[in-house]
Amino acid sequence: MLTGKRILLIIGGGIAAYKSLELIRRLRERGADVVPVMTEAAGQFVTPMSVTALAGNPVHSDLFDLGTEAEMGHIQLSRVADLVVVAPATAHLMARMAQGMADDLATTLLLATDTPVLIAPAMNVRMWEHPATQRNLATLLGDGITCTGPDEGDMACGEYGPGRLAEPLAIVEAIEARLADGPLKGRRVLVTSGPTHEPIDPVRYIANRSSGAQGTAIAAALSALGADVDFITGPADVPPPQGVRVIPVETAAQMMDAVQQSLPCDAAVFAAAVADWCVAGASSSKIKKKAGKLPTLEFAENPDILAHVAQLKRDRPRLVVGFAAETDDVIANATAKRARKGCDWILANDVSPETGIMGGTENAVHLITEDGHDSWPRMTKDLVARKLAARIAEALA
Ligand code: C5P
Repeated sequence: MLTGKRILLIIGGGIAAYKSLELIRRLRERGADVVPVMTEAAGQFVTPMSVTALAGNPVHSDLFDLGTEAEMGHIQLSRVADLVVVAPATAHLMARMAQGMADDLATTLLLATDTPVLIAPAMNVRMWEHPATQRNLATLLGDGITCTGPDEGDMACGEYGPGRLAEPLAIVEAIEARLADGPLKGRRVLVTSGPTHEPIDPVRYIANRSSGAQGTAIAAALSALGADVDFITGPADVPPPQGVRVIPVETAAQMMDAVQQSLPCDAAVFAAAVADWCVAGASSSKIKKKAGKLPTLEFAENPDILAHVAQLKRDRPRLVVGFAAETDDVIANATAKRARKGCDWILANDVSPETGIMGGTENAVHLITEDGHDSWPRMTKDLVARKLAARIAEALA
């Protein structure tokens, strides 16, 4: 439920704007107070009259509206909400946000606000996939803005692919997750996830079979309990969860930098399968195949991110959780790893191929703490994540 929550809804100018009317209805059904703002272009797709009627609040659209300025200044308007939602967020609006422009009421409010912002992009598939839009998205995510969608499917323009506005109910879910008042409300948690890619040359790299499923589920479970999550992910198979700050990286070194930038935080969960080695002096041009000659690769050790953070003197998170993927003597090896790395907990699992755990949907873990170990029955990775998130909430209470 969203009773008592005020949503500042910014409607961008795209064909998907018609779905914002449905979104307003769903939000109001759940008790939210919706304050609508339309860009000038949005007025080409939905009328201010319909928006006002459904929202039960007047629509704001003009930066130079003296009436509004007298009743409630624009800056004030940007701050009275619990959440600012931009739906649909068009490519143009995302570009202006990423640039920090303030050339109309919507962008001025977005620049002036200190309230969390959630965007629901919608645009033509080519526009979504364009490097410029992806660059803008990365900038916005890096600024702490969360994103829901876009969905993949048939588009109003006749093309097919990612770019459709997320369904109104999915946007409502993302809003509820962002506003969740769970036991981790106000806590900052970082989660690393996925594999790392260590370049050999510009086209080849060394990787591992981690899908990122367990780390993604943990980030989602922590977010559902109200935590403010920095999700630092290598190139994973599964999409990142909703409602978290996504920080994409490729190499272990980049992951280390991103982790350091996310400190301080209350808890850190290191679920990533970080490559132990990188290729020393990776080639900046493609290594040519030469008949009868095999290349020799030299390796260098990657930073141990978990051990580094667990052993920090300043800014050590209160709770540091590592993973141990083992193929034999799981509990003994994981217990030794906990001591060696200096972390508080280790979640250990058997990744022998016959378990089907690596890349699968289930996991069987042992939680190793200073008090010994607690073996959890085999369950879905989602359930493991929820159990772990609940234990983290207890530990931080
Ligand atoms: O030493 P090992 O790779 O088995 O340790 C696994 C744990 O350490 C995982 O939590 C993993 O995310 C973390 N780790 C790390 N940086 C590395 C290697 C592992 O954070 N370079």
